[in-house]
Amino acid sequence: MYIIREAQEKDILEIVAIEDLSFPVPWPDFLFRSNLENPGFIVYEDKKKIIGYAILGTFKSNAHLLSIAVHPTQRKHGIGSLLLQKCISIARYYGYKSMTLEVREKNLDGQRFYQANGFKEKESVEGYYLDDNAVRMQRKI
Ligand SMILES: CC(C)(COP(=O)(O)OP(=O)(O)OC[C@H]1O[C@@H](n2cnc3c(N)ncnc32)[C@H](O)[C@@H]1OP(=O)(O)O)[C@@H](O)C(=O)NCCC(=O)NCCS
Repeated sequence: MYIIREAQEKDILEIVAIEDLSFPVPWPDFLFRSNLENPGFIVYEDKKKIIGYAILGTFKSNAHLLSIAVHPTQRKHGIGSLLLQKCISIARYYGYKSMTLEVREKNLDGQRFYQANGFKEKESVEGYYLDDNAVRMQRKI
């Protein structure tokens, strides 16, 4: 049985391992640690293992998805969508009406995932990443 819960210090090593397998320029562990007090930092845990995580923040009065990843062997089973839905619930709870995010222009799978979850492309952001442009996406929540 799985649970989605707030991330804790003991989860950080497993989260960083997923991060390293998921992004060309992964976040270092201190960025995850600095979010431990953030109620929008959540994990999906199954049989005591961390399978995925998401971090919600804010940007210009919108809820803003900072990062989301699922272990590569566990993708395409709906876990990413469950984490995203939980972020949307948290954002609603805090009174936000809209959610934004950035995704690498080269990350077409990521963009498809967000489109399937109701996000639409808002604008392109040149040089947002060191190695790529970003697509900024948004949806009402
Ligand atoms: C993006 C990411 C978080 C999605 O996680 P996920 O658990 O695979 O997400 P879901 O399973 O909910 O949805 C992914 C796809 O699987 C499909 N899917 C969901 N459940 C399924 C099932 N039971 N059987 C088959 N396919 C399924 C969805 O329809 C979706 O299809 P799409 O790619 O055409 O939209 C994951 O691919 C990932 O970690 N990528 C690397 C990091 C990244 O790119 N993060 C996002 C950018 S910041």
